Amino acid sequence: MPTLSILKADTGGYVGHSAVHPAMVAEAVRRIDRARGDLLLDGTVATCGDDLSLIMTHEHGPDAAAVHSFAWDTFHATTGVARDFGLYGAGQDLLSDAFSGNLRGMGPGYAELEFTERPSEPVLCFLADKTEPGAWNLPLFRMFADPFTTPGLVMDAKMHAGFRFEVYDLYQEKRAVFDCPADMYDLLMYIGAPARYVVHSVTSKTRGVQAAATSTQRLSLIAGKYVGKDDPVMIVRCQSGMPAIGEALEPFALAYTVAGCMRGSHHAPLMPVPVGSAHPSRFDGPPRVVCLGFQISGGRLIGPRDMFDDPAFDRARAQANEIMDYLRRHGPFEPHRLSLDELEYTTMPALEERLADRWEPLPAAEPRVNPTE
Ligand code: F6R
Ligand code: MG
Ligand code: MG
Repeated sequence: MPTLSILKADTGGYVGHSAVHPAMVAEAVRRIDRARGDLLLDGTVATCGDDLSLIMTHEHGPDAAAVHSFAWDTFHATTGVARDFGLYGAGQDLLSDAFSGNLRGMGPGYAELEFTERPSEPVLCFLADKTEPGAWNLPLFRMFADPFTTPGLVMDAKMHAGFRFEVYDLYQEKRAVFDCPADMYDLLMYIGAPARYVVHSVTSKTRGVQAAATSTQRLSLIAGKYVGKDDPVMIVRCQSGMPAIGEALEPFALAYTVAGCMRGSHHAPLMPVPVGSAHPSRFDGPPRVVCLGFQISGGRLIGPRDMFDDPAFDRARAQANEIMDYLRRHGPFEPHRLSLDELEYTTMPALEERLADRWEPLPAAEPRVNPTE
């Protein structure tokens, strides 16, 4: 059974946090080319902003030490290129020096999905920069649970029973499963808070197979201080009992608001862009999403097609610019800036410590004495 893995890391930015240097991509491509036909069935390299993704098919299953250590070594090699060129934040996401079997908690993010290949296997790989894994909650809900987005839920007998959502609580390291449509309102109660609750996977109830996988690491929680947003990736299988390609892309026609952007501390619209435009510049944003479409055939990745390279997403891009103008005018005020409890997981504790002595109790209310009495 093949596995599709996207393993990604920010191993250095060119210029600042805006892109990956072509020499780093070339280094990763060289390594993938060497591993193809041996460790890997196939592989390709993609970028979104300052994040480098290794998109690979193989037969080792999810969380495989061999595949993860290959990615780890590749990220070290691209870090080497970044150091050589003095690129920004070289090795930013490699939080540990020693590799311990898989990448969980090591800094890089990954989404992996093991599947039996159908006669035709269309998949979408979404890569985002300047946001967090919970950014996938809204589009996943709309793809797999909202009939206004996905008429297949009503019209396709293979989808009519609905989908099962596996949700992670990133703060408490717990998980729960919600069955849609029956548990739809319970699901929304949680995933409407995407900083904490993140859809990790989606499974077809009719087919009993996994349809989507996301990366769920949060670097700030792993590292105990802000080291960058976790710039998530996601895999969605499409057609014949899964959302059609157009149903899976439809949620991105709205430039919905996510956490991310400047210093990982602001809300901003998510802009769907072609690969060549995935270089956040203004206010280190707006956050970007690209979508690479593949047909998988005998484990080979036929593609990619650049799915947001379509004028049908022009309005979402224009909308993102408009929302960005509006939010920017709030400057350091919420809701442009993230709420305090969100910042608590980033830079807030250090500030609070420095200013702790300045805060004193409010004066007690003295009873007022009237001088004429
Ligand atoms: C990085 C990011 C950027 C940086 C910002 C400040 O993912 O979101 O907005 O946080 O450019 O970067 P430093 O602190 O490295 O100067
Ligand atoms: Mg960076
Ligand atoms: Mg990034």
